[in-house]
Amino acid sequence: MKIAIGCDHGGVNLKTALKKILEKENVEYVDFGCYNTDSVDYNDYALPVCEAVVKKEADFGILICGTGIGMSIVANKIKGIRCGHCHDVFSAKMTREHNDANVLAFGERVIGAGLMEEIVKAFIYTPFSGEEKHIRRINKIKTLEENNFR
Ligand code: RB5
Repeated sequence: MKIAIGCDHGGVNLKTALKKILEKENVEYVDFGCYNTDSVDYNDYALPVCEAVVKKEADFGILICGTGIGMSIVANKIKGIRCGHCHDVFSAKMTREHNDANVLAFGERVIGAGLMEEIVKAFIYTPFSGEEKHIRRINKIKTLEENNFR
C-alpha cells in the first residue's frame, strides 16, 4: 500500500506524527509538503496528493489542514476523488465501507495524534463493502461529476 500525504501550515505538525504512524505500520508514503509553518494555501497541497490518487500512483491520499475543511472541499472538486472529512473512527470506517473514499481529510486544530492514529488505521485497513446499493450511489456521484445537477 502506498499513501500520498499533504498538508498546509495548519497541519504540518500532525503530518509529522502521521509519518511516524505510517512508518510503524510499514506503509509506504509520498510526502507532497508543506514542510514548515509558513502560511500557504491548502489548495496547492491538496492537488498533487489527489493527482497521485487519480493517476493510481497512490492507493489513498491523506490531507491535513487546520480543520480539514478546506482540504476536503478542494479534494471533492476533483473528478475521481471521494474525500471523507473525518474526526472520529466510526466515520473513517464508514467512508471506506459505504463511499469507497480514496482520500481522508482532518484538522490538526481539531484532533490529536492518538485519535488520528486510530482514524488513519480505520481508513486504510477498512475495505469497501462492495454492496450493490453503495456501488449505485457511487455511480451517481460519478455521473454528477460529468453533468452538474443530474
Ligand atoms: C489556515 O489558517 C486554515 O484556514 C486552514 O488550515 C484550514 O483550516 C482551512 O480550511
